[in-house]
Amino acid sequence: MPIFPRLIVGQVVLSALSFAAVVNSAPSGFPTSGNGLWFRAKGSAWAKEWLPIGNGYLAAMTPGGTLQEVTQLNIESLWSGGPFQDSNYNGGNKQPSERAATAQDMQNIRTSIFQSSSGTIDNIEVLATDAGAYGSYVASGYLITTLNSTASATNYGRWLDMDQGIVRTTWSQSNATLDRVSFCSNPTKACFQHLTTTGSALPGITYAFNSALESGLPQPVVSCLDSSTLVLRGNVSNPGMAYELLGRVTAFGKSSKVVCSPEGSANATITVSNAKESWITWVGDTNFDMNAGNAAHGYSFKGADPHVGLITLLNTASPRTAANANTFKSLSDSYVKSYQSLMGPFALSLGQTPDFTKSTDELLSAYKIDTGNAYVEWLMFNFGRYLLAGSAPGTLPANLQGKWARDTSNPWSADYHANINTQMNYWFAEMTGMDVVKPLFDYMEKNWAPRGSETAKVLYNIDQGWVVHNEMNIFGHSGMKASGNSAQWANYPESAVWMMMHVWDHFDYTNDIPWFKSQGYPLLKGVASFHLKKLIPDLHFNDSSLVVNPCNSPEQSPITFGCAHAQQVIWQLFNSIEKGFEASGDTDTAFLEEVRQVRAQMDKGIHIGSWGQLQEWKYEMDNPSDTHRHLSHLLRSISPIKRHPSVHQGTSSECVETSLIHRGNGTGPDADAGWEKVWRAAAWAQLGDADTFYHELSYSIYENFGSNMFSLYDPGSSDPIFQIDANFGYPAALLNALVQAPDVPSYTSPLIINILPALPKVWPRGSIVGAKIRGGFTLDFEWSNAKPTTATLRAAPSFKARPVQVVYAGNVVSTFTSSPGNTRVIRF
Ligand SMILES: *[C@@H]1O[C@H](CO)[C@@H](O)[C@H](O)[C@H]1NC(C)=O
Ligand SMILES: *[C@@H]1O[C@H](CO)[C@@H](O)[C@H](O)[C@H]1NC(C)=O
Ligand SMILES: *[C@@H]1O[C@H](CO)[C@@H](O)[C@H](O)[C@H]1NC(C)=O
Ligand SMILES: *[C@@H]1O[C@H](CO)[C@@H](O)[C@H](O)[C@H]1NC(C)=O
Ligand SMILES: *[C@@H]1O[C@H](CO)[C@@H](O)[C@H](O)[C@H]1NC(C)=O
Ligand SMILES: *[C@@H]1O[C@H](CO)[C@@H](O)[C@H](O)[C@H]1NC(C)=O
Repeated sequence: MPIFPRLIVGQVVLSALSFAAVVNSAPSGFPTSGNGLWFRAKGSAWAKEWLPIGNGYLAAMTPGGTLQEVTQLNIESLWSGGPFQDSNYNGGNKQPSERAATAQDMQNIRTSIFQSSSGTIDNIEVLATDAGAYGSYVASGYLITTLNSTASATNYGRWLDMDQGIVRTTWSQSNATLDRVSFCSNPTKACFQHLTTTGSALPGITYAFNSALESGLPQPVVSCLDSSTLVLRGNVSNPGMAYELLGRVTAFGKSSKVVCSPEGSANATITVSNAKESWITWVGDTNFDMNAGNAAHGYSFKGADPHVGLITLLNTASPRTAANANTFKSLSDSYVKSYQSLMGPFALSLGQTPDFTKSTDELLSAYKIDTGNAYVEWLMFNFGRYLLAGSAPGTLPANLQGKWARDTSNPWSADYHANINTQMNYWFAEMTGMDVVKPLFDYMEKNWAPRGSETAKVLYNIDQGWVVHNEMNIFGHSGMKASGNSAQWANYPESAVWMMMHVWDHFDYTNDIPWFKSQGYPLLKGVASFHLKKLIPDLHFNDSSLVVNPCNSPEQSPITFGCAHAQQVIWQLFNSIEKGFEASGDTDTAFLEEVRQVRAQMDKGIHIGSWGQLQEWKYEMDNPSDTHRHLSHLLRSISPIKRHPSVHQGTSSECVETSLIHRGNGTGPDADAGWEKVWRAAAWAQLGDADTFYHELSYSIYENFGSNMFSLYDPGSSDPIFQIDANFGYPAALLNALVQAPDVPSYTSPLIINILPALPKVWPRGSIVGAKIRGGFTLDFEWSNAKPTTATLRAAPSFKARPVQVVYAGNVVSTFTSSPGNTRVIRF
């Protein structure tokens, strides 16, 4: 067992701790493990100072006010656009009547590319479709809690406690200490904000829902459902999706009183008087229903009015029984238990020493590239997991902002970009044992596949399987969303192929055969069936290989054929079909044979170019000074936890390294984002280069995160854009330096578990407990003096036996065939 401080799960709730409430230390109540973010002042800028809470269904951002708290709210499915706004919305596709003409256009494009002396053409606009009512993820207003007091606040502190999953603000006024706790609970689908005082009673409190702060959102109606419950009903546009929020107030105190008023108004509020403690429970939903996103439902995505379902949720989350002093404690205890069971038993230590004397913003401003600070690095790792727990386990997967978005129209629609961003969101989930990935698979099955099979027919003239492109909303957008020659973004029919690695990995990590049969394998087969037909003979090089045409390497401009990334991900998908065929129960052996044949004939996407680089395109045109943000063609070699080991079996490792060096450090003329730096960090860890790994990781922290640890697109701005991908790529990159167990092409290739492949000098000691490794293993290990001491591998029962090698410092330290149920202890 680890001997170093680590993430403590199962701590006592709201325990009074021994910190004196002095200005130079973390506030009283801040976790003794140090696992939290704290601040000396209320947050002002939303994206870089407010603190998030969420449960996957709902999200909220809290500034930590005193006399007034303005909590910004989100409901995961609240979107503008789609069939709610435009009854003719068809997922950005061509009309079925255009199929024949489009097939001819496609043929002409393919021929021109093959015949082009540069291997490229300048546009494919004829294949694109206007985005139409694509829409955007929309914020759902504010909860405003106001105290009827003018007292001044002293001894202020606010923090996020990641041991318990709560946000807390404490301050003193009028000789009393006030304490506000906010959190969102996944099992109850509800959020809570609780206020209490050490004095005899709280000042009068007013609770209001306000959407007027949301510019562009039509004014909703807020009325009294009963004496203690507000109901907000609105439409995101007219016509548009409907949404509802219910907020119920519970107060406890000698002569406390809760009143909703005025009855019959469109702007009702709830007031509370003489309460010793008071809390509001809120739930919310829309009339979106992903089960109605198929042809049988006319792709309406419309479900029932949310009201009845919300009343049931609210009555369960916050029963209208008389409050007593234990009611809230039991609600919050059971929430903390559920949060800790989602986060645990995984735990990481980097040998960090918590620094209670500096607030999180102070720690971050003192942070230096290469020197770093293990405590900050550990916090940012835990924060990534906190955000995934708060955004992924709903009915929709985590979007570009998780589920936290402030406006009526959010950057890039806060949608799903599946050419790195959606993938990165889930990179670390399986390895840290977080059971939050199912909504991602439901989304692909119910939102992508149905409309995507029409796109296969109308755009590609292919009658089997399905396809989507890079940008997806929640209304089955599957067409090529282009405007003004934007092929570099739009022409990416491999998005679902890349996502299939997540499907395969879920099976490889969990061996969940019923799930694989009913959902996992059908997803793999649907995507593979399409690409079997889409690969065509290379009529440029006439080398009798099969290639994609037309293709763009993600976000790079050349429109060409045989893009390395596309060839690699399709090849890997075909391997997954072969590996999973037996478990799938599929009897379609003709399909399996075709997969094998096409795989044998296809270009594998690995070509070494004239300056020693791994080529991004089959037709060599790599520019050594291209520092583009994406590393798409290096994917099979360097994506965290997904590398194909052939890269170390030949010269291609050096080529990857050459390409990576030339790609720069993630600050180029095109972008200076966090996700490109953590991607590079992960890649350098994969190549075993600890120094460059740490340089990139520490550079990302230095450059791209706000003081609330949100990953920011433009960190220097006073009101920056939040983009969650680097928050999620960061933990994956960090893990990749500590342990790697990449996918293998077949079950006969040994699974290689590489311990401490790129340990930076700054983490000489540490431990991991409960890491999940593909093949059904749980791994605990610790290191000190920069060397591993022991590792324990426990094999879960009922997994397939397979060859395993444990590697450290390039040497195989243990070779065995996995034996379900067995434990193996390795001493180094
Ligand atoms: C605030 O308190 C004052 C004095 O106690 C009272 O007159 C007033 O009605 C209260 N206002 C609200 C909004 O409760
Ligand atoms: C706070 O306590 C002090 C000392 O007991 C007392 O003089 C003062 O009136 C109190 N202030 C308030 C606002 O209750
Ligand atoms: C929302 O739209 C529906 C249907 O058009 C309408 O009946 C309802 O009154 C609208 N609600 C609000 C709050 O505007
Ligand atoms: C409710 O408040 C909004 C904005 O504050 C205002 O525009 C609207 O007229 C009010 N509605 C009623 C019925 O008072
Ligand atoms: C490949 O074959 C095509 C069609 O037969 C021909 O037009 C083209 O010149 C050939 N290319 C090469 C490089 O031989
Ligand atoms: C990143 O690369 C740019 C361009 O080469 C260079 O100017 C800059 O110093 C580098 N920064 C870091 C932190 O590596």
